[in-house]
Amino acid sequence: MTERNTSTDSPEKRAAGIAAARLVSSGMVVGLGTGSTVAYTIKELGRLVREKGLDILGVVTSYQSEMLAIEAGIKLTTLSQHPELDLAIDGADQIDSELHAIKGGGAAHTREKIVSVSAKRFVVVADESKTSTQLDKTVPVEVLPFAKELAVKKIRELGGKPHLRSAVKKDGPVITDNGNFVLDAEFGVIKDPETLALQLSAIPGVVEHGIFCNVDELYIGNKDGSVKIV
Ligand code: 5RP
Repeated sequence: MTERNTSTDSPEKRAAGIAAARLVSSGMVVGLGTGSTVAYTIKELGRLVREKGLDILGVVTSYQSEMLAIEAGIKLTTLSQHPELDLAIDGADQIDSELHAIKGGGAAHTREKIVSVSAKRFVVVADESKTSTQLDKTVPVEVLPFAKELAVKKIRELGGKPHLRSAVKKDGPVITDNGNFVLDAEFGVIKDPETLALQLSAIPGVVEHGIFCNVDELYIGNKDGSVKIV
């Protein structure tokens, strides 16, 4: 999976991440997303567990969020033990005015989608730079290595330009937590995210793509610490 820097402080990401942690109460089973924004949520939940006796179970979406959650002292469970989650909180790479999101900047979107769809409520935490009237960022598509060329051809037929995501510090492709490749596909402005989502899902060998049409609420953090809820 791509290395992600979760250590650089960002007041707007912190504001959104910490505000969303207030949605969590004792007894809940919570999906813990991946990335630098939700890392603030995970750390805040850990603080509440240690200092305020918050009693929750977390379901992680990546090895990154697993390591963070363990370090924070959050007890973990699995979807096999808890198939229905009370809440899932996660970041996004871009989110439009109708709350369609693109995720997968950290190549964790497959587990993130499974966890978010398993939750009764899915909340995205982000800073203003992630918001847009329409989606136009590249769409991460996790593919079985065996199906890469077929997926490239089918994504081109849909009007996309797919590029194999490369590892940052070594030669070769990024390998996801599930052992697969990621194609980042440019589609320009995505006029109909729901249709594109269905078309990408229909390609044999596509494990999951990064278009999310199931966001319930968006927490947008600002530099002054305020948070807008959409
Ligand atoms: C990982 C994701 C992340 O949630 C998304 O990339 C946002 O990350 P960040 O909060 O670091 O900007 O989808 O697969």
